[in-house]
Amino acid sequence: MHRKGFIFDLDGVIVDTAKYHYLAWKHLADELGIPFTKEQNEQFKGVSRKRCLEILLEWGELKVSQSQFNSWLAEKNEDYLQYIETMTASEILPDVPKVLNFLKEHNVPMALGSASKNARPILKKVGLIPYFTSIVDGTQVTKAKPDPEVFMIAAGELKVMPQHCIVFEDALAGIEAANRAGMTSIGIGKKEILTEARYVFKDFTEIELKFIKELAEL
Ligand code: BG6
Ligand code: MG
Repeated sequence: MHRKGFIFDLDGVIVDTAKYHYLAWKHLADELGIPFTKEQNEQFKGVSRKRCLEILLEWGELKVSQSQFNSWLAEKNEDYLQYIETMTASEILPDVPKVLNFLKEHNVPMALGSASKNARPILKKVGLIPYFTSIVDGTQVTKAKPDPEVFMIAAGELKVMPQHCIVFEDALAGIEAANRAGMTSIGIGKKEILTEARYVFKDFTEIELKFIKELAEL
């Protein structure tokens, strides 16, 4: 038996914030006259704020000064922050507490592995800080997903070997990062999109505790 570690992405896995990221990007894209669909937004999931703006500007074939770039980056974030300002525990996705509570009761170490620089304030707002032994967010990583860095740091902080870590992710880039780290990847979302994930569930309501127990080798 090996000690297992569970690593959770935040946006779109624990809380329903993926839709707010989409709305804030859509707002900016409309303003710049760049078409932006929900399908395109899939490519923004798990990707750093800066990289998302770079991609958007590439799509719009816009080349801008550093100060204009920074100002749009700030604008997107301010817009996003307005959505999350009033967030409460009601925006924790269904059955996530069921899994977190089960793992906590069994003393299985848990980490957050998010690309977001807003991860800590969001976790605080929804009251989930105490669940995590380690919180690794966009302020600590130098290489964004699909680079495995964020999950490798989390595994190190949990003191669990990568091959004994289980990662929950809703982003293509995040699944790739988990796979590259040699971890077990669990996709939360659509099977047609998360094709590289070891397992895929629509959401946590589809995940039985029996399955978590097996993964954790309890
Ligand atoms: C990820 C989201 O969790 O965080 C991305 O999936 C987002 O869509 C990224 O761009 C960065 O978030 P933030 O909050 O730092 O802008
Ligand atoms: Mg996500």
